Amino acid sequence: MSIHRLNRSEFGRPEDKGILPTIDQAREILNDWVKNPRLQLHMKQVAAVMKAWAIEKEAADEQTALKWELAGLLHDADWEKFPEEHCSVIIGKLEEMHVDPEIIHCIASHGPRYFGVEPSSKMDRMIYAFDELSGFIHAAALIRPSRYEGMDVKSIIKKLKTPSFAAQVNRDDINDAMSRIDSSLEEIVAFIIQHQQAVQ
Ligand SMILES: [Fe+2]
Ligand SMILES: [Fe+2]
Repeated sequence: MSIHRLNRSEFGRPEDKGILPTIDQAREILNDWVKNPRLQLHMKQVAAVMKAWAIEKEAADEQTALKWELAGLLHDADWEKFPEEHCSVIIGKLEEMHVDPEIIHCIASHGPRYFGVEPSSKMDRMIYAFDELSGFIHAAALIRPSRYEGMDVKSIIKKLKTPSFAAQVNRDDINDAMSRIDSSLEEIVAFIIQHQQAVQ
């Protein structure tokens, strides 16, 4: 990700709390803005992992799980069209749509070093933890003939310690994200492997 400071800490409007696009509306934005299938897949994978985490680990109700899913699905929506302005364009679009500020803040804080916005809610901290690792694990799956089948956590941890493997994935970001949550790296890796493999 390139550095694009958002230079603000408030996103969306408090009175828009509870306003969510439907998953179909979010998919429409994705299909309009993202033509690269691999990038689309990345967002769908992060969305699936976020939704599953909300339901399984946070006992989220349907509306809350949808928020987590939407944040995942849209977090990189402007990356392909506006790489220099990522993620301010999707934020502007969601503000125009009066989307719930928690979703917008979550997207704004998915790369604190790049956007200058600190993750605060649990949803913010989890998207930060999942984002890079999800891409890393998918890169690992692509070089295995059996893809996700039989993939084990240890081999992923080992690859993380190998700087030449998927070198574009910033290990400092992963370590920083992990330091902000209570779960272990092993738990997060296992959760991602389990929940993103069926996503197409
Ligand atoms: Fe991003
Ligand atoms: Fe991402």
